[in-house]
Amino acid sequence: MKEKLRPLPLREGAGGGAETRCKSDRVAPPFLTFPLERGRDGGTATREKAGPGASLLAAIGLLMLLGAAVPTQSHAGETVSINGLVGDPSRGETIYHKCQGCHSIDRNRTGPMHKGLFGRQAGTVPGFDYSKAMKNSGIVWNEQTLDTFLADPRGTVPGTKMTYAGIKDPQDRADLIAYLKEATKE
Ligand code: HEC
Repeated sequence: MKEKLRPLPLREGAGGGAETRCKSDRVAPPFLTFPLERGRDGGTATREKAGPGASLLAAIGLLMLLGAAVPTQSHAGETVSINGLVGDPSRGETIYHKCQGCHSIDRNRTGPMHKGLFGRQAGTVPGFDYSKAMKNSGIVWNEQTLDTFLADPRGTVPGTKMTYAGIKDPQDRADLIAYLKEATKE
């Protein structure tokens, strides 16, 4: 699972973004001050022409710095990526409606409650009568095991009582799992 999660855009983005930012921080002061100084010293028509152009470049440079910094920060720790697909939790909430015929987050129904799902051993919610297949599956629920199971529940855990065909679209599963990750936190 770790090997699959490693090369994801989130990690690359975070790493790349941070690097760009560090480099740019070092480059920024001379880059930003140089054109401004020229503008002030000058006063000739030619230099005034050069001034705004250079300042514009500086402004673009600044925007790029901000652009590099902002997404890195706002997504850190929130984004869920599965096999290279970034999950959208708000779409996932709608997809979870398909599960709510049997499941709810915080109580057992036809299916076990989903609260505390991540990091939990399959088949261990107290008071829920699981199939032997689920109890003995040895699965620990995380992004990757959920992705595999939800694609094909009965193929992944033969003999499961979860009579649900599964979610074929990988993006739908990524969105659903992103939602579950937020909604099932204890
Ligand atoms: C038709 C009813 C039904 C539907 C619909 C359904 N489930 Fe289930 N689900 C079950 C049952 C029953 C079990 C217990 C399976 C067993 O014991 O073999 C289960 C088990 C699970 C488990 C294992 C939980 C644990 O505690 O180990 C997960 C995860 C899960 N379902 C997720 C989902 C998701 C996500 C959806 C929607 C895409 C969904 N299920 C749709 C009935 C359903």
